[in-house]
This record gives sequence, C-alpha cells and structure tokens, in this order.
Amino acid sequence: MNTIVSASILASDLSRLAEEVGRAEGAGVDWLHIDVMDGVFVDNITYGNNVVKALRRVSGMFFDTHLMIIDPTKLIPRFAEAGSDMLTIHIESAGDTENNLSEIRRLGMRAGLALKPNTPIESVYPYLPLCDMVLIMTVEPGYGGQSFIPECADKVRQLREYCRQNGFDKMNIQVDGGINADTAKIVTEAGADVLVAGSYLFGADDFKSALDSLKCGG
Ligand code: DX5
Ligand code: ZN
Repeated sequence: MNTIVSASILASDLSRLAEEVGRAEGAGVDWLHIDVMDGVFVDNITYGNNVVKALRRVSGMFFDTHLMIIDPTKLIPRFAEAGSDMLTIHIESAGDTENNLSEIRRLGMRAGLALKPNTPIESVYPYLPLCDMVLIMTVEPGYGGQSFIPECADKVRQLREYCRQNGFDKMNIQVDGGINADTAKIVTEAGADVLVAGSYLFGADDFKSALDSLKCGG
C-alpha cells in the first residue's frame, strides 16, 4: 500500500499561510490536512470554510479537512462549496452520523469518520459502507505537538484486519497526532496508509527529508 502523507497546516506559520502551503506542495506532500476546531468540541478555535475557500484559490492540492466541531451537519455544504476534497467528521460529534456521511458523498466529497483515543474501534464498524477513510486519532484532538499514544496502533491493526475480512479493501486508514519517522513506521506496519504530520514537517530544518523519512516506513 502506498503511504499518503497529509501535512497539517496547524503547525505552519499561519501568518504566511499561502506560502506555507506552497512549501508543502513544492516538497511533494500528497494531501493538505486542515484542522477545523470550534472551541466546543475541542478547546481551541482555528479556521473554517472561508479559509478553505481562500486556499483553494492558491492551491490545487487534495484538501483533507478534519472537522473537530460539535455540530457538523449544517456546515457540510459549505465545505463542499469551499473546495474540500475529503471531509472527516467525528463519531463523537452531535447529529446523525449516517446522514452526515451520506451527505458528504452526495456533495461529491470523500467521507471520513474520526474517533478519539478512548472511543472503541468497533464503534465505526457499522458506518464503514459509508466511509472512504477512518481517522484514528493517536493523540487527544485539540492541539498539535503532542506525543503519540502507542496503544492506538492496536486499533489500526484491528481495523485493517476487520476491513480485510469484510471486503473494505480500499479503505484508507489515517492516523493523526505525534507522527514522526519512528511512529510512522509503527503505524504503517499496523496497516495505516494515510499519515498526518504537523510539527514534524513544518518544524523540520529540511521539509523534504522529513517527508521522505515518513514515506520510507511505508
Ligand atoms: C490535533 C490535530 C492534528 C495536529 C497534529 O487535534 O488533529 O492534525 O495538527 O499535529 P502533530 O503532527 O504536531 O502532532
Ligand atoms: Zn487533524
């Protein structure tokens, strides 16, 4: 399985966002990870559909949008219109998960379902037919720069096995939080194929070699 790297702009210099996106794109990052936080589902507030729309004007990258918001339902069409390619909602958020996932696909985006470290992996199984990707959080959502929680690798292994046994062979399994060259190796061996990395990439002296070091685990 080819490893996809999704660079999280949360760790970039937000005062120069367009340039930072250009830096990621120029280095050969596959996807751009956009963390939307509402100050309710998590402690912080980041950016929303208007920033996605602005970035769409300057970048042709695949926009992987991670919604850490309590009530995604009414905002789904706005992210579609803004230019998100993947829209990931949390299973712990409010609203009807099944309807939300269907609506994401109906509007032409890929649908992702995320779960926090303490949420059991089995809770996503009923929704897999409506998902293109499952995001297994490997830190508590809300902040960049935290340490990877090693137990989360077991969830990756369990989900990959379940997908193999139940005909979801094309399911993307994404991990998010504390990913660096060492943890990338652990999660790719467990079956993850999409790695989100923020501080490891944007904080590196050499973005390109940091990116290469994530890919060589996969
Ligand atoms: C955390 C976010 C992550 C974050 C990862 O809530 O979902 O995407 O940017 O940051 P690092 O890679 O620095 O742990
Ligand atoms: Zn994220």
